[in-house]
Amino acid sequence: MALVKTDWNKYSFKDSFITKLFLKSVWNGYKKLLNKSNLNNDIKIMELGSGTGYNSYNLTQEYKVSKVTLVDSNKGALVASKKRFKKYKVELINDDVMNLKKEGKYDLVHSQGLIEHFQGNNLNKIISIHTNYVKKGGYLLLFYPTPTKTYKVIRKVAELLKLWIFSDEVPLKSDYVKNLVEKKGFRLVNSTRILKHTITEDGLLFKKIS
Ligand SMILES: C[S@@+](CC[C@H](N)C(=O)[O-])C[C@H]1O[C@@H](n2cnc3c(N)ncnc32)[C@H](O)[C@@H]1O
Repeated sequence: MALVKTDWNKYSFKDSFITKLFLKSVWNGYKKLLNKSNLNNDIKIMELGSGTGYNSYNLTQEYKVSKVTLVDSNKGALVASKKRFKKYKVELINDDVMNLKKEGKYDLVHSQGLIEHFQGNNLNKIISIHTNYVKKGGYLLLFYPTPTKTYKVIRKVAELLKLWIFSDEVPLKSDYVKNLVEKKGFRLVNSTRILKHTITEDGLLFKKIS
């Protein structure tokens, strides 16, 4: 049975206290993963399902980034990103990632909180969309929830309290994601786990080798 699509208009793209705490943990995970990359100067980055744009913005503060492309189907997300980037030049694309026609290759393609909303062939397709935008020798970074006991308990409680908005979210096992990505000419270079005591998310960093 098909799951009810998440209504992203209910998601907060504002920098509330909780959002800030969450995004900070995610960014720490990004930094940990990218320690094992050799990204250097003049890098081009693309974020799919970019939400607040927080992680891409932080990347521009950490690396010499020559191009940033953010893709999100929700206008509110892109409005929030535009504010965050202020005068920094950023390409904002308001589109469904599954129908994206954009051309080009990037040194780093990343997403957090996106792929777990796709299942079966669509999961494979959205991963291919990520991998096709990575140039040879470039990187793919993915963060997604994984089905630990704490994730399941927190989700159950949130569902009972009617606070859970992610109706089509299916947490993913990392071996499964690793397998899907490695079949597309990538090698895993680093992995990490964040928010271990709450809604556990795994992060994987891959390098494109062929
Ligand atoms: C969990 S949020 C991402 C949060 C983001 N990593 C951040 O740092 O704020 C998921 C985002 O993916 C977007 N999204 C979901 N499905 C999408 C699709 N098919 N195409 C484009 N964007 C999508 C949503 O609008 C939402 O902004």
